[in-house]
Amino acid sequence: MRGLFITLEGGDGAGKSTQIRNIEKYFAAKGIKVTHTREPGGPPISEKLREILLDTGNTEMDAVTEMLIYAAARAQNVREIVLPAMERGEVVICDRFVDSSIAYQAFGRELGSMVAEVNRHATGGLSPDLTIWLDIDPEKGKARASGDKGPDRLDLESTAFHSRVRRGYASIAESEPERFKRIDASGTIEEIQGLITDCLDELCRSKGI
Ligand code: TYD
Repeated sequence: MRGLFITLEGGDGAGKSTQIRNIEKYFAAKGIKVTHTREPGGPPISEKLREILLDTGNTEMDAVTEMLIYAAARAQNVREIVLPAMERGEVVICDRFVDSSIAYQAFGRELGSMVAEVNRHATGGLSPDLTIWLDIDPEKGKARASGDKGPDRLDLESTAFHSRVRRGYASIAESEPERFKRIDASGTIEEIQGLITDCLDELCRSKGI
């Protein structure tokens, strides 16, 4: 059996980590093994690339360089972690995936269609079975964020940049409504969890799980 690939999108204060833990519990209760990874990151090579990407000292980084490093980290994550786990029949949950590059690099950095093209090579055409976008107004999200880690290089971008990012996600939601589910992340943890569970139930039904 080919496993499932589920990705989560959403910025600071959307409650992504909590909800990822709940998704893991959902599948564990069905006796299905879950592998968890993140982007940028996952395997050691990609974690090294993550340090370069998020280092607030790297103020000189060109937008195309940035986009290619995100894609490079992704290529390694897909081949070293995601695909092998799926071949073992597991559920793979990835914190951010290609949609982040579409939102941040294609829309935020305004690099346009080259981002999707590069990422087709990075992923070998792999697309998630389901993507949950925890949507929250960036200002509200910031106010809610736990603040346990300082802002990364992208967090420091302007409000205009973050508005373009959000518009990017909204445009994906419009063009791929089956795969890409927008969830209002301004509610309580329990409300958000309920909405995500509905999406997971629907996915499992459609896959006969
Ligand atoms: P991370 O700490 O994982 O962010 P968060 O806690 O907000 O999920 O840092 C990832 C940062 O990198 C985040 O600001 C979004 C950005 N990013 C991109 O710009 N493009 C990408 O393809 C990915 C995966 C992330």
